Amino acid sequence: MKQDMIVVLDLGSTRNTDVARAVRALGVYSEICNYDVTAEELRAMPNVKGIIANGGPNDVVDGVKIGLSQEVYSSGFPIYTFDYEESGSVNPMPEKDEAIQEALRSFVFDTCKAQPNWNMENFIADQVELIRRQVGDQKVLLALSGGVDSSVVAALLLKAIGGQLTCVHVNHGLLRKGEPEQVVKVFREELNANLIYVDATDRFLDKLAGVADPEQKRKIIGAEFIRVFEEEARKLDGIKFLAQGTIYPDIVESGTKTAKMVKSHHNVGGLPEDLQFDLVEPLKMLFKDEVRACGSALGLPDSMVYRQPFPGPGLGVRCLGAITRDRLEAVRESDAILREEFANAGLERKVWQYFTIVPDFKSVGVRDNARCFDWPVIIRAVNTIDAMTASVEQLEWPVLLKITDRILKEVPGVNRVCYDVSPKPTATIEWE
Ligand code: XMP
Repeated sequence: MKQDMIVVLDLGSTRNTDVARAVRALGVYSEICNYDVTAEELRAMPNVKGIIANGGPNDVVDGVKIGLSQEVYSSGFPIYTFDYEESGSVNPMPEKDEAIQEALRSFVFDTCKAQPNWNMENFIADQVELIRRQVGDQKVLLALSGGVDSSVVAALLLKAIGGQLTCVHVNHGLLRKGEPEQVVKVFREELNANLIYVDATDRFLDKLAGVADPEQKRKIIGAEFIRVFEEEARKLDGIKFLAQGTIYPDIVESGTKTAKMVKSHHNVGGLPEDLQFDLVEPLKMLFKDEVRACGSALGLPDSMVYRQPFPGPGLGVRCLGAITRDRLEAVRESDAILREEFANAGLERKVWQYFTIVPDFKSVGVRDNARCFDWPVIIRAVNTIDAMTASVEQLEWPVLLKITDRILKEVPGVNRVCYDVSPKPTATIEWE
């Protein structure tokens, strides 16, 4: 293994990830470990150079106050005891606080003598070795949605085990314009992946016909997705492993021994029990920006790596009410125009998420001197840190008018464009 490591020992702080990120910002790899890790386990981990014992308010587990164990204390590793919450910083990232940053830097480099060798080249080299060791000559299956995480996992596995990987891309008919084509082009044609492309559009749209309730729509899409993937998996012989794009925040948010779960994390989401796979999760120690850097280092295009977030149920939650094919096309076409014009205006990476919505009602308008009765398109563009709250992007009028003009000219069945200026709360980011 090429990277030195600093272990952040979780002694009940709510800020362990901030500390781990601050160490990584110094160029040194860092992982969070449970408070009850043994000295033997620490010695078995590769290249541990030192330990940051990070205390905080959640220091009672099962009624017992936890602390640094005597065994770890006398294990010989350099230890820095640190109480992030009491160190006075109100900033989310320690690196904004010079005193904390200096203390960390001095510990990591002067005391632990760690090398700043945490970079994507070394990460990829290490993962390739680990994946090969885990998988041997067995076969691996991956559900490749085309999202950032699954795309980066696919590229990493292709580098490590090439033809032993089979990717399944299920097109549920609710993807953005050009997305399934891009997945096929990048993975099958450019990276030579075994890619099974399933166009299940009709199947999904048939199941969704006449279903107007948002929750019901989500459930149908989720369940059908698993069914299609499962059918493909059963057709394949001798698959031993399932690869997943789990990333570090998924693990941290699923709860640690000292902190309660924020939200449940279930990427595998309900595969039947008789389909038994071991998991390969090579990105599980990366934060999102590191996943993107890894994708770029593996040669994936920017349009894939810097994609804005896109919900699993896709355009299905933006074609409001019961989905019809004509309105779905109006969502897809208007979304493509919006994305193109955002790119032209240099807003592509500046705005967090932007998309269009087509509601299931019409309004009166006039076209070619005659009355028309058509759908409106609603534009939404928001900024957020964590998607829990969001503010509206204050789009420049010329950009908004250009988009409006193009949508009205180019998208059939649309006679009106609106801009949603609602923050979250009270609105959510999506409309359904
Ligand atoms: P809301 O609408 O709840 O959305 O403010 C917050 C963020 O989550 C995305 N979103 C989803 N992502 N599956 C996903 O993977 C879903 O079912 C889903 N619903 C919403 C949404 O696009 C926004 O970024």
